[in-house]
Amino acid sequence: MKNLNAEFILGASKVSQFPLIDKPEVAFTGRSNVGKSSLLNSIVLRKNLAKISATPGKTQQINFFNIENKWIFSDLPGFGYADVPKTLKESWIKLIFEYFKIRENLRLVCLLVDSRHDPTKIDMSLMEWFENNNKKFIVILTKCDKITDNLIAERKLQVENLLQFCKNSLEVLPYSSKINMGRNELLAIIKRICN
Ligand code: GTP
Ligand code: MG
Repeated sequence: MKNLNAEFILGASKVSQFPLIDKPEVAFTGRSNVGKSSLLNSIVLRKNLAKISATPGKTQQINFFNIENKWIFSDLPGFGYADVPKTLKESWIKLIFEYFKIRENLRLVCLLVDSRHDPTKIDMSLMEWFENNNKKFIVILTKCDKITDNLIAERKLQVENLLQFCKNSLEVLPYSSKINMGRNELLAIIKRICN
């Protein structure tokens, strides 16, 4: 597997700070602790690229990365982190949805869902929002190294059934950042959508 060139561009806590770069963009979203930063690191095969904010779960920013000078990847703040004041949580949610709405080069949203659990209410409402707002998305089932192949297959089928009538849902992809499972498949999808 080949390393990808990757560099941190900036972290934005408001829309006016979003970088103006004319390249296809892929966003990574999902609830806090689901494995977004780990997944970004596993795609580029680097240990610490996405360890930008010191305290996990308290990322207040959207972190933008330049990948291979071809694509932008954006790491969004996690949904649902318990230890954050309500007003702050609301401001992140507002920022994330503004991001989804105005980011013209956004080609693909990767929604990360923990493979060990049923999709949460937040996961489901995000899927519905992407479908209704015409955003192409894939669901990535994270931490698959922690469950058996049978359970992975069951979860994949469950989510595929949920999404069977969604025209903007492209794929349900089992993933493990720990053992790099799904990494090549994800890269192939990104190349297909972004090139
Ligand atoms: P926030 O920044 O809080 O939104 O979290 P995040 O979604 O970026 O999650 P992060 O990548 O920080 O991972 C959270 C925890 O899950 C860490 O302890 C990781 O080591 C663990 N983890 C992430 N991906 C995997 C995986 O594929 N397998 C296993 N076993 N653990 C994982
Ligand atoms: Mg993170």
